[in-house]
Amino acid sequence: MTLAVLVLALAIVLALLFYSDPQDDNDLTGNRLQIPPLLEDQNPDPGIASFTLTAQEGKTSFYRDRQTATTGYNGSYLGPVIRIRRGQQVAINVVNQLTEPTTVHWHGLVVDGHHDGGPHQDIQPGESWQPEFTVDQPAATLWYHPHFTWSTADQVYAGLAGLIYIDDAVSDMLDLPDEYGVNDIPLIIQDRNFNQDGSFSYQTTMMGIVPGQTILINGTVDPFLPVNREKIRLRVLNGSNAQNFFLTLDDGSSFLQIASDGGFLPAPVSRKELFLSPGERAEIIIDFAGENKRTQALVQNQQTLLAFTVTETVVTSEDIPAVLVAIDDIPVGPDVKTRQFDLEGMGISGTINGKYFDMDRVDEEVALNETELWTIRNLGGMMQAGGHPFHVHGTQFQIVSRDGRNPPAEEQGYKDTVYVAVGEVVVIKVRFTRTGLFMYHCHILEHEDNGMMGQFLVK
Ligand code: C2O
Ligand code: CU
Ligand code: CU
Repeated sequence: MTLAVLVLALAIVLALLFYSDPQDDNDLTGNRLQIPPLLEDQNPDPGIASFTLTAQEGKTSFYRDRQTATTGYNGSYLGPVIRIRRGQQVAINVVNQLTEPTTVHWHGLVVDGHHDGGPHQDIQPGESWQPEFTVDQPAATLWYHPHFTWSTADQVYAGLAGLIYIDDAVSDMLDLPDEYGVNDIPLIIQDRNFNQDGSFSYQTTMMGIVPGQTILINGTVDPFLPVNREKIRLRVLNGSNAQNFFLTLDDGSSFLQIASDGGFLPAPVSRKELFLSPGERAEIIIDFAGENKRTQALVQNQQTLLAFTVTETVVTSEDIPAVLVAIDDIPVGPDVKTRQFDLEGMGISGTINGKYFDMDRVDEEVALNETELWTIRNLGGMMQAGGHPFHVHGTQFQIVSRDGRNPPAEEQGYKDTVYVAVGEVVVIKVRFTRTGLFMYHCHILEHEDNGMMGQFLVK
């Protein structure tokens, strides 16, 4: 009895000693990086996967003393990682519990047009949608997000986005860090603005979206990640509506890039900086095993985005393989079909080939299984027009040239989104292996919602 009273008294004293304002606490220590859960496969057959994804409203405590009205999949902000295998048959039950229509698009996934989740596959409030597909592409980090006309930017900003991992025989075989949440870490990077009361402040002007002052990673403000002394793999998605990221390590040291949008690069590329425009992904390896390793953070312009707290635990990791995957060149015949896409930004809106998006107009007709060369030109535009991340649905393409030159090593793998700076001309080799209606667009979501999108029919 006396002991219980003593323990209680001690607990109260300790609580008083260590109590501090939650906001201060935030600033002092940061928050442990949240790791999205893996979505449960409800089908016991390893060849078949069944998932349920529910778009819902909720409240999220980005700051300990304030709540933000948000949306998420199966939770209040962002969504779980959908992990699937090459060759697997996948069925997803997508439920819309929002008060407005939405769609869910599988960005980077090669599936038939009517399972792609573009603007035509709307799910009304209270309804659901059941896409089905067989995974037929290499191991990669892809993602999913809404794609409803006019409201994509708002819905993504409020929290609707998540990752898709594809595994295959190659990723099984390669000696790479692959312990989910331990040395294989997803990073969804997004910029956000907050109002005093904790609510999101999503603001656009004639010039575009107002850049966010706060960077969230996996929905975590001011995140830190404990890492052991080993090689750590980061799968990075630029999940922002419009901001580019230019990531470096705080001590300027190099890291290896092993994958781009559509999967592994032929070989690791040693880099000191990583540029990602909205929608793009990259996988990188940072080595925390070295004796004199001083890397403490992933930064942008000296601003820490993710702090690493390196533990004393030493874990032996294998050397990263010098060769990752064989990538066959998409073949180009002599009388290859060519197309040109001229991007013109105008503040928050823009056009492709002089046209604003029209749901009822098919812009291009493309033959199934035929390689084409697409030339994408950024003509600039009015009112602070900048670069455009050009994205194509239903395929993974290869970059032929950037302003007439070979693309850099990190752009020699499969891509589904390519950044085209003002005045630049990028040529891609593209081939479609699925039929249906698909989108191409700028992945600045405000541009996409306001005209910079077109559709093509593959048959
Ligand atoms: Cu990331 Cu049309 O989409
Ligand atoms: Cu897409
Ligand atoms: Cu754009």
